[in-house]
This record gives sequence, structure tokens and C-alpha cells, in this order.
Amino acid sequence: MITEVLVRYTHFIAIFVWVGALTAEHLLLKPQLSRLEIKRLARIDGIYGLAAIVVVAAGLTLWFWVGKPAEFYDKNWILHTKVGLAVIVGLLSIYPTVFFIRNQKGPAEEIVEIPSNVKLLVRIELALMLVIPLLATLMAKGIGNA
Ligand code: HEM
Repeated sequence: MITEVLVRYTHFIAIFVWVGALTAEHLLLKPQLSRLEIKRLARIDGIYGLAAIVVVAAGLTLWFWVGKPAEFYDKNWILHTKVGLAVIVGLLSIYPTVFFIRNQKGPAEEIVEIPSNVKLLVRIELALMLVIPLLATLMAKGIGNA
């Protein structure tokens, strides 16, 4: 019981950190940034990555080891859609992550043009992150069980 509470709490806090980091990236992204600002974004992106790992680890723990039995979720198409969307968010984050890592090095004040795709991808990720909790609530109620 206490284990389940702790894992659910971990799942939620890591989701807050994930969405917080994504929101910070969205606010900080401008058409032009100095390498110092990109370095800051790369650090925020690192926090995003760690939070995402914790969300997935806690989610898989809830699925297979604590709380309701795994069979409750195994054939639930809404859970599978939710996990699929989380994977898509992760895939969409690859390009911004690689861009931040590649462009953070160099003279701190040097200005770099930021491709508009970077902000667009962050925006799409944020939109998908809004949908996922709705799917989570539905599947937790048993909706979507085959
Ligand atoms: C791939 C990774 C993920 C897996 C495997 C996963 C799995 C789970 C599981 C098994 C539960 C327990 C549901 C229940 O109480 O019956 C849960 C709850 C929840 N998850 Fe995830 N999850 C993942 C990612 C996410 C993400 C990215 C978000 C939000 C953006 C999220 C939001 C939630 C919420 C809000 C709940 C609570 C639902 C409720 O009790 O009403 N999950 N998750």
C-alpha cells in the first residue's frame, strides 16, 4: 500500500518536472540565442531527460509490480495509446536535445540562429503531454479494457 503511494507520487512529481522543464524550454527559446543561453537550455533538457526516465520507470512499476494486477492494463488500448504518445514525445525531443548539445560549445556571447522547428517540436510535445493525463484517468477507471 505505502509502496504504491510512493510510486504514484514519484510518477506525478516526475511528470511535473518533465512538463516544467518543457515549459521552461518553450519560454526560453527565441529565434536567436547566445551559446551561453543554449548551454542553459541543454541543462534544462538534461533535467527533462532524467524526469522522463523516472516517469517511465514509475509507470512500468505501476503496471507490472505494484497496485492493480498487470492483467488490468495488459489489454487496455487506452494504456497502450498513452504509452505510445509518451514514446512519441520522447522521439520528438531528440532533435531539440541534439541541437542544444551540439550548439552549446563555443564563445559564450556568440549568437546562434535557432531553427523554428525546435520550438515547434517543443510545442507539439507540450500539447501531447496535455492529452496523456486524460488517457491515464480513463484507463485507471478500467475504460478501454478489451
Ligand atoms: C510510458 C510511460 C508510462 C507508463 C507505463 C504509465 C503507466 C501508468 C500506470 C500503470 C498508472 C496507474 C493507473 C491506475 O491507477 O490504475 C499510471 C497512472 C497515471 N499516469 Fe502514467 N504512465 C506513463 C507515462 C505517463 C505520462 C507521460 C503521464 C503524463 C503526462 C502520465 C500520467 C498519469 C496519471 C495522471 C496517472 C493517474 C491516473 C489516475 O489515477 O486517475 N503517465 N500510469
